[in-house]
Amino acid sequence: MANSGKIDPGLFALSTRHYDQNDRCYGEYRRGDYLLPVDDIEQDRLDITHKFLTVAREDSGPDQGNKRSQYGLHARPLPCNGPPRILDLGCGTGIWCNDMAEHYPNASIIGCDLNMMMIPPSILPTTQFFPLDIRDPTWGLDPNSMDLIHMRLLGGCITDWRAVYQNAFNHLKPGTGIFEHIEVDFRPFSYNNTLPENSTVHYWMKEVYGAFERSGKPLFPQDDPAAVLKQLGFVDIVHEDQEIPYHPWPEDEHLKNIARWFNLSMQSAIPAMSLAPLTRYAGWSAKDVHQLNTEVKREICISGMQEGHNLSKCWSDMPPGWVQDTSSRLAQIA
Ligand SMILES: C[S@@+](CC[C@H](N)C(=O)[O-])C[C@H]1O[C@@H](n2cnc3c(N)ncnc32)[C@H](O)[C@@H]1O
Repeated sequence: MANSGKIDPGLFALSTRHYDQNDRCYGEYRRGDYLLPVDDIEQDRLDITHKFLTVAREDSGPDQGNKRSQYGLHARPLPCNGPPRILDLGCGTGIWCNDMAEHYPNASIIGCDLNMMMIPPSILPTTQFFPLDIRDPTWGLDPNSMDLIHMRLLGGCITDWRAVYQNAFNHLKPGTGIFEHIEVDFRPFSYNNTLPENSTVHYWMKEVYGAFERSGKPLFPQDDPAAVLKQLGFVDIVHEDQEIPYHPWPEDEHLKNIARWFNLSMQSAIPAMSLAPLTRYAGWSAKDVHQLNTEVKREICISGMQEGHNLSKCWSDMPPGWVQDTSSRLAQIA
């Protein structure tokens, strides 16, 4: 859609097609590039994961300051300088955009993705979706035009995070724009040493991480996001990790609730994240991957093993008065 209001029909057609492999569907746009499926099972997983993330980010008292999230959807209050313009990069099923549209009826919201077939018809007229590879140097949007740019769960999709952050910087309004990036760090950690080093969960993650590394798009950004944002000129940067247990052993009701949703999300994330990476980049057969997944899915439900992941949350603001000039900016940080 972009600023011209026109969608490239060729791009749109490609972004709505899929091919089948090992009983899952994958996107046709830049075939083989995006390693997760795009079928109904995956769409359900993304919507469940959205619920998990909003529960995880709903907090917890009025004194959270910077940490307090807005409806569990974003961290910093939107600027009050007119109807907000919001961009979601790699929007998946568009559920975050649609939730934002419900909370901010006067906002103009854009979601973009490689795989448009996952997006149901927009439920609210203020939300629009268009096909885009966010690694492309131009996004077809006005520079300095966005109040909030949001990215979530794009680990395993991007090689050069700095370039994407730079583009986000160029598209945000100077002085008031907000950038936010949320990822799950899937490397498991153990509470109370209850997850043995020889657990299947550890083995699974090592294999899956290795496969994504070999694909050239690591599952978790390797550079410290806050450091990269700082180098690019963002200000008021907050980066925090939030522990998320795999299953509801904690006594704390909020943690228990997070864990219930996270466990449900992981039951379908494990096959989604394993199948293409392990068969394409680690020499596994589909049958062996299924067997491994069954054991991992079982293990994350054993209540004696108190393990979890970290939710990595990073947000920052635009400095005032920045005039966009990508080439000189890149030269400055090189
Ligand atoms: C794991 S899903 C997360 C979806 C959404 N951000 C969420 O949190 O529900 C990753 C999404 O990023 C999209 N994607 C992957 N690589 C992309 C790229 N280079 N440009 C745009 N979208 C991309 C995929 O099609 C998929 O919809």
